[in-house]
Amino acid sequence: MTALVLEELKKPLVQRERANLKPGSGEVVIQLKAAALNRRDYWIQQGLYPGVQPGIVPGSDGAGIVLQTGPGVDVSWRGREVLINPGLDWGNNPAVQSDHFQILGMPRDGTFASEVCVPVGQLHARPSHLNWLEAAALPLAALTAYRALFSQGRLQTGETVLITGIGGGVAGFALQFAVKAGATVWVTSSSPHKIQRAVEMGAQGGFDYSLPLWTNEFSKIAGSPNLVIDSAAGSGYRDLIHLAAPGARIVNYGATAGPPEKLDMFKVFWKQLRLTGTTMGSAGDFSGMLAFVEKHGIKPVIDAVFPLSDTNRALHQMATSPQFGKYVLKISE
Ligand SMILES: NC(=O)c1ccc[n+]([C@@H]2O[C@H](COP(=O)([O-])OP(=O)(O)OC[C@H]3O[C@@H](n4cnc5c(N)ncnc54)[C@H](OP(=O)(O)O)[C@@H]3O)[C@@H](O)[C@H]2O)c1
Repeated sequence: MTALVLEELKKPLVQRERANLKPGSGEVVIQLKAAALNRRDYWIQQGLYPGVQPGIVPGSDGAGIVLQTGPGVDVSWRGREVLINPGLDWGNNPAVQSDHFQILGMPRDGTFASEVCVPVGQLHARPSHLNWLEAAALPLAALTAYRALFSQGRLQTGETVLITGIGGGVAGFALQFAVKAGATVWVTSSSPHKIQRAVEMGAQGGFDYSLPLWTNEFSKIAGSPNLVIDSAAGSGYRDLIHLAAPGARIVNYGATAGPPEKLDMFKVFWKQLRLTGTTMGSAGDFSGMLAFVEKHGIKPVIDAVFPLSDTNRALHQMATSPQFGKYVLKISE
């Protein structure tokens, strides 16, 4: 099998030929058709993710065909077309993951390869309306968006939602899901072009978070959001607290811009805000996400497709976030 290996931090992944994988008890080997990139892969390559171990194969998202089944796995799985839930060992508590929780692609070898080995419980049938590239773009980002909006954010039809940094992979799914759920959606972005794309996908409009007075414009035009979905935090977090409607929820799944500089706790308690964290999702969230995607015929927005041999170019491009939606790797026909 072919695998892209992180041999040294901050250096390009190295393409290596390795022995074909053998499934252990309860596991399957999947011949990958496509994989997709997440910001996590970039953080791992840059050594900015906790516990990075050189020698691993990154990649959390993948879709393909079951090639081999290990002991204890029904052989009828062989030949099935699947996508992978990359959240391993979430545990039994829907509110929070267990101490054993892991994400495929570090420490367990991931999907930037021609084959991957995962426990059979991670598999779901490829939705029939998605091709291989679309199926591979779905798992991690769509799961995170689904839990952020629905399980943690408790989105109700008719509410106003603000989604920050709409160029992001998770943000794009959050936009599609919130629109289908009947919310009024506003976005932020550093790019007018990305705001325009978001409007074409059903957003009411957008605001450039890099401009100093964007919140004034937002209040005038959009009012106050009941739910904010944010992955940036940083100095802009206080703007979100300022904008939020009384009783609003602010749900964070990342801190791309670092920790908030200042938290106005007076506004937090006076407006009775709920500041909530969220991470990927449980097995129930994953099934809920897939059912929602199938019911509404949602297709991931793919910015660009790269061959596996060009993964380093995709990772390099992620440094400056020019993309709108997902970068996908085509692995085999
Ligand atoms: N907790 C979890 O389970 C989980 C899951 C997935 C991702 N994450 C984290 O969430 C973040 C986004 O992940 P992703 O995969 O969706 O990333 P991505 O596709 O790489 O998103 C990058 C986008 O972030 C936006 N951004 C950057 N700085 C910003 C700022 N100061 N304010 C608002 N937006 C800003 C930009 O949007 P514009 O281009 O529109 O300006 C950029 O395009 C990362 O930190 C990632 O590690 C966490």
